[in-house]
Amino acid sequence: MAAASNPDADPVKTASTIKALPPSTVRQIGSTQAIVDPISVVKELIDNALDARATSIFVFISANTIDSIEVKDNGHGILADDRPLVCRRYCTSKIRNFDDLKEVGCKWLGFRGEAMASMAEMSGRLEIMTRVEGEPVAALLKIGRDGEVESTERASHPVGTTVKLTDFFKLLPVRKQSALKHSSKYLSQVKRVIQSYALARPTVRFSLQVRKAKTDKGNWVYAPKAGANAEDAAFKAIGRECASQCNWTAIESDGFEIQAFLPRADAVGAKISSEGAFISIDARPVSATRGTLKKIVAIFKERLRKSNPALASTKDPFMCMSINCPPHSYDPNIEPAKDDVLFEDGEAVLGAIDRLLTSIRSLGGREHWERDLHAQKHNAIQVEVEHVWCR
Ligand SMILES: Nc1ncnc2c1ncn2[C@@H]1O[C@H](COP(=O)(O)OP(=O)(O)O)[C@@H](O)[C@H]1O
Ligand SMILES: [Mg+2]
Repeated sequence: MAAASNPDADPVKTASTIKALPPSTVRQIGSTQAIVDPISVVKELIDNALDARATSIFVFISANTIDSIEVKDNGHGILADDRPLVCRRYCTSKIRNFDDLKEVGCKWLGFRGEAMASMAEMSGRLEIMTRVEGEPVAALLKIGRDGEVESTERASHPVGTTVKLTDFFKLLPVRKQSALKHSSKYLSQVKRVIQSYALARPTVRFSLQVRKAKTDKGNWVYAPKAGANAEDAAFKAIGRECASQCNWTAIESDGFEIQAFLPRADAVGAKISSEGAFISIDARPVSATRGTLKKIVAIFKERLRKSNPALASTKDPFMCMSINCPPHSYDPNIEPAKDDVLFEDGEAVLGAIDRLLTSIRSLGGREHWERDLHAQKHNAIQVEVEHVWCR
């Protein structure tokens, strides 16, 4: 009998010995879960800027995506008493206990207290410049790999915060090589992440500047007018060509408030293809690759395809949906990246989406599309007849 299935086998020989990992190893292992690549650095820093109520966010990133990553905001800054804790793991200003998680979704993007600590651990250098209202000068904090403040100097900076990482992935050679190899792909993903924030938070100004780039093609600015909505953001952030194929619609159902900017059934496939889905839950951009959010995209694609069979081959069509949820209706703590949520009643959300799509006449199904076409033809004949009769 094989040793593994023999209950009489000597446990000392078959079992392994459990030992606690040294704290530095625990820190290293944890860090690479919260922050996986330069894209997640940018995402977490934007989350922090928005949580600090910034209205203007600048992202600077070197062309190879690892030499330097910097995000500057005009948020409320970090209070002097909080500064020693900014990069300590599991220190957060956003929740105080597990029950607060239920409330977190509509209030804060962050809540795990991991991102800054992980960035300190994974970078050659991490510096934070910050200033709060009423302070005569800003503070420049140099942070050690263990997340502790190593030094504080006076600096010049308006109210708000700039976080700068240098030499990202310094001690993770495999990830470093991978980032260098995929830097142009990462840069376009960084842009996509910023676009998703612009669509989720259309009144906030965003800009991306790629440093040491051969051309300025990677740079990007979203400068909203006062009171801009997702439709304005789509026109500016995604582009007129795609946005002009879409219509704006909104619905309230079962406590869910959904606003959507979706391609019409008569959209030109080439103009909406490959732009993909932008979904936000309580103004948090989320990934549509899993669970209920994935189903939402599938339902929309199916409707679009049925409404106009010519769009069946359109790959990854554009769609933008912002869903405001009733209190306590989901758990935002599903992924370390906080880009997925678990709905208490996923069917209720899908039902609301279905009602929204049904309310859009041209997406009501093939029968509608054919009926509409028939009606259009009929009206045209009617107009012609009336025209003849009037002469
Ligand atoms: N740009 C910023 N402006 C103001 N405060 C910030 C900023 N970035 C980080 N902080 C503070 O540092 C804390 C730790 O940030 P982070 O590690 O991202 O954890 P979390 O966002 O989950 O709380 C935040 O809770 C916040 O108080
Ligand atoms: Mg955060």
